[in-house]
Amino acid sequence: MDKEQFKNMLSCRRNLPVWQYMKDILNTVGSSQVTIISGETGCGKSTQVPQYLLDDWIIKYEAGSKHHINIICTQPRRISAISVAERVAQERLEKVGNTVGYQIRLESKMSESTRLSFCTTGILLRRLESDPTMNGVTHIVVDEVHERSEESDFLLMILRNILPLRPDLKVILMSATLKAELFSTYFNDIPIIEVPGRTFPVQQYFLEDIFENCEYVLEEGSEYTRRISKDPDYLESQLECGEVILMSEKPRTALKDESLNFRQICTRYEEYSRRTCKNLFLMDPDKINNELIEHLLDFILWEEHDHPNTGTILVFLPVGGRRRYCCYLFILPYLVKIRQQFSKNIKQVFEKLYFQQILQRLQSP
Ligand SMILES: Nc1ncnc2c1ncn2[C@@H]1O[C@H](COP(=O)(O)OP(=O)(O)OP(=O)(O)O)[C@@H](O)[C@H]1O
Ligand SMILES: [Mg+2]
Repeated sequence: MDKEQFKNMLSCRRNLPVWQYMKDILNTVGSSQVTIISGETGCGKSTQVPQYLLDDWIIKYEAGSKHHINIICTQPRRISAISVAERVAQERLEKVGNTVGYQIRLESKMSESTRLSFCTTGILLRRLESDPTMNGVTHIVVDEVHERSEESDFLLMILRNILPLRPDLKVILMSATLKAELFSTYFNDIPIIEVPGRTFPVQQYFLEDIFENCEYVLEEGSEYTRRISKDPDYLESQLECGEVILMSEKPRTALKDESLNFRQICTRYEEYSRRTCKNLFLMDPDKINNELIEHLLDFILWEEHDHPNTGTILVFLPVGGRRRYCCYLFILPYLVKIRQQFSKNIKQVFEKLYFQQILQRLQSP
């Protein structure tokens, strides 16, 4: 095992907010048959909690304990079962399929040495059909329990029934901060461990903030302009009336931007520039505006601002026409790195990269 690599991984793990709660988690799991762990996104629930159980067992096993361990951790989606398993294995400098494995429909990476396995809720339910008391399983971790589904609710119901039959079985429910109380009540007031804080501060910007900051101008004849009226003069007359006095009351929040006229938009976004209001009024809400994405990337990379401009930019995009549920990750670490290393005049070179073309290629079916 590469000691240096392991030390780096361990230091990453130690920096996660959940690390401070390791003892608390182990003690509570030790004394209560069911435990809830709630914490904000990224605090380390999925990747760390199962490892705390595993590491605790390893320490005891090496000290002579004869107990065995078999942790099953459910994930709501196949992709998260695989990615969490891969990440956990990576943190332990192992390959998936050894101590850490996963099982999803039609795919399994497990072996005799697997002690911690990630699977989908569906897989666990199927296993319960053939093995109703989950013999040999010591811990069941139900992750993302707040993302309620028929399957996960059904699983909780079954688990509640198994508890008296398997007093040695430990159940750990992991949830986002909201709704933890609800599950605690369902299991007769079981303890909740709340992990405060998050690893990375997240600041939200909405479309209007982006328009405002990166000075994007949506041209009236652009392909991203919505078709508002059959009357060609309508748009012009609407835009002109933006110069007139704002309305006395803001439009009701239930009304979507696209059903407002320009005057209403200006009233709703009173504190924003007229350019931003015009963009909001003109933009076709059903089209992905690649031009805007490119403009925003340009802004982040090249313009003067107080936002971080090192690291990686991820762009989540629906891929290919109607398959809108599909997301694509577009990673640009090298561009940012180059931005750090060279002066701003290299901009011209990178302008030739044509983000738009890349985006379009990603989106073509
Ligand atoms: N595949 C990965 N590659 C690199 N770092 C990762 C990866 N997966 C997780 N991490 C790191 O581990 C941290 C904890 O992730 P984890 O998934 O355990 O958090 P979580 O509390 O389960 O969050 P969520 O509520 O979103 O499920 C993340 O903040 C990130 O720093
Ligand atoms: Mg998680």
